[in-house]
Amino acid sequence: MKKTVQDYIRTIVDFPHEGILFRDVTTLFADPRGFRMCIDQLLHPYAGLEIDKVVGLEARGFILGGAIAHQLSTGFVPIRKKGKLPGAVISQDYTLEYGTAVVEVHDDALASGEKVLVVDDLLATGGTAEAGIRLVEKLGAEVVGCAFIVDLPDLGGRRRIEALGHEVHALCA
Ligand code: PRP
Ligand code: HPA
Repeated sequence: MKKTVQDYIRTIVDFPHEGILFRDVTTLFADPRGFRMCIDQLLHPYAGLEIDKVVGLEARGFILGGAIAHQLSTGFVPIRKKGKLPGAVISQDYTLEYGTAVVEVHDDALASGEKVLVVDDLLATGGTAEAGIRLVEKLGAEVVGCAFIVDLPDLGGRRRIEALGHEVHALCA
């Protein structure tokens, strides 16, 4: 009998490169009990907190963010890789293992002072989440939490987000 969120996550060996153990959350998302448990647990620390918008990081943060926004009756805002959003955007560079990448958000997606919950499936180096937080803050909105299913602790993402002054909530390592 599967009991914890972690039990539903599958590890794929050597994806996308040799030597990488890829945490595949599609098996969690596909299970009705697992998915509900995951959404409930991601939201648990924020009960009673004012949240105006949920911001999801491409791509699996969209699946989580949509469900969380529905649960909270808030709007949902996507942060996307460069070139995908159709309207006027603001951009933020971030570092990858090799080279850099850019994420974007519509420049009218958040209002100044709005309280935002940032969500994604996984925190590794924290580069993606840091870039997302910077975009939210560039629009004058306030990050009230950063929630992830998986935190890979050896890669330093938690420290990086905490150094920005934000708490990390993760369900498993
Ligand atoms: C993965 C994951 C996070 C990010 C974490 O996404 O879903 O968004 O990497 O890594 P970091 O903490 O080192 O930035 P990926 O870049 O594979 O993009 P995708 O979801 O669009 O496939
Ligand atoms: N799963 C999903 N995304 C990732 C991973 C992983 O194991 N590592 C870095 N980004």
